[in-house]
Amino acid sequence: NAVESGSVCWEAPSNIALVKYWGKKENQIPANPSISFTLKNCKTTTRLNYVKVSDNSTTSRGIEFDVIFEGVKKESFKPKIVSFFKRILPYCSYLEEFKFEVVSDNSFPHSSGIASSASGMSALALCVMSLEKSLFPETEDDFFYKKASFLARLGSGSACRSVRGDLVVWGQHQEIPLSSDTYGVQYPFKIADVFKDYQDTILLVDKGKKQVSSTVGHDLMHGHAFAAARFQQAHDHLSALIPAFEKGDVKQFIKIVEREALTLHAMMMSSDPYFLLMKPNTLAIINKIWEKREESKIPVCFTLDAGANVHMLYPSQFKEEILEFVKNELVVYCENGHYICDEIGKGSKKL
Ligand code: PMV
Repeated sequence: NAVESGSVCWEAPSNIALVKYWGKKENQIPANPSISFTLKNCKTTTRLNYVKVSDNSTTSRGIEFDVIFEGVKKESFKPKIVSFFKRILPYCSYLEEFKFEVVSDNSFPHSSGIASSASGMSALALCVMSLEKSLFPETEDDFFYKKASFLARLGSGSACRSVRGDLVVWGQHQEIPLSSDTYGVQYPFKIADVFKDYQDTILLVDKGKKQVSSTVGHDLMHGHAFAAARFQQAHDHLSALIPAFEKGDVKQFIKIVEREALTLHAMMMSSDPYFLLMKPNTLAIINKIWEKREESKIPVCFTLDAGANVHMLYPSQFKEEILEFVKNELVVYCENGHYICDEIGKGSKKL
C-alpha cells in the first residue's frame, strides 16, 4: 500500500455508567453487562501522526512512538500506551510498519479526579481505525465503529462505551439483541424524551489520584464473597431499566442508578483487602441530594465512579434550579469549589 505518512484526529467523550462494570475475566471481558450515558463536554482530542519506517527497524523493539499531552512530552503516559499497542497488535498488524506521535488534550482540567482513560483510549482507538481505513479504504462504517470500540476496550474496559452516543451497552445481556462482551453497542430500544437530554453535574470532591486503581478493584472481584450475587444484580438492573427508559419512569431509574453506585462501593468495602474511595464530603453531598429530592420533588439523583466525586443526574428542565442548589449548598463540599456541567452526548467526532 502506498500510505507513507499522515495524520488523523478524533475527539471522544467520557461516559458515566448507570449499571456498573466491576469485575472482569481474561482479555478485558466484563463479568457483567453495563450501560452508560455518553457525556458531551468532558472529552479527549487526540491526533495520531504516523510515518512509515524502513523495513527491518521496528518489529523486534515493538512499536515506536512519542506522547505529547497538553503540549508537553510525557514519558509517564507511555507504559499505558505500550500495553495498549501490544494488546491491539494481533488485530492491527500494520501498526508495526509505522512510527507514531500521539498528541492529546483533555477538555477537563488535568488531575480533576475525572478519569481520562475512557475518552483517551477511545480517541486513540478511533485514530488507529482511521489509519486502518486509509490502508483498507473499503472498511465499512459499521465495522469501523465496532472495531474502534473493540480496540478501545483493550485499552480500558469502559472506553469501549465512549465511541458512540447516547446510551451504550457493553456486555452480553439476554434482552438486548446484538449486545457483546467485546465491544459496546448503542442501546437499541425506545428512550422517553425525559432521558434524551439528561444533565450530569460533576461535583469534584477530591481531585487527587485515587489510592486504588480500577485494575486492582476489578481483580478483587475474583473470589469476592458477593461476586455471583453482584453479577446477577447487574443483569437484573439492566432488565429493569428497559421499561423505565421506555416509559420515562424516573423514579425507577433513580432507584436503580443509586443502588448501582452504592453497590459498586459496597464491593470495594467488602473485598479482601477492603478499601474505601468515598470521602466525608461524598456522603455529605449524597445526603444533600436526598434532602433536595424530598423537599423539591425534583427527580435528581447521584451516581459514583471508582472515586470520591459525585455525578448528579437530572432532567434538563430542572437545570436552573439544580445549578442554584449547587452554588448555594454543594460547592462548599467541592475541592476549590470546583464542579463541571455536562450532559448526555452523541459520541465521538472526527476532526
Ligand atoms: O474501564 P475501567 O477499567 O477504568 O473501569 C471502570 C469502572 C467504573 O468506572 C467504576 C464503572 C464503569 O462501568 O465505568
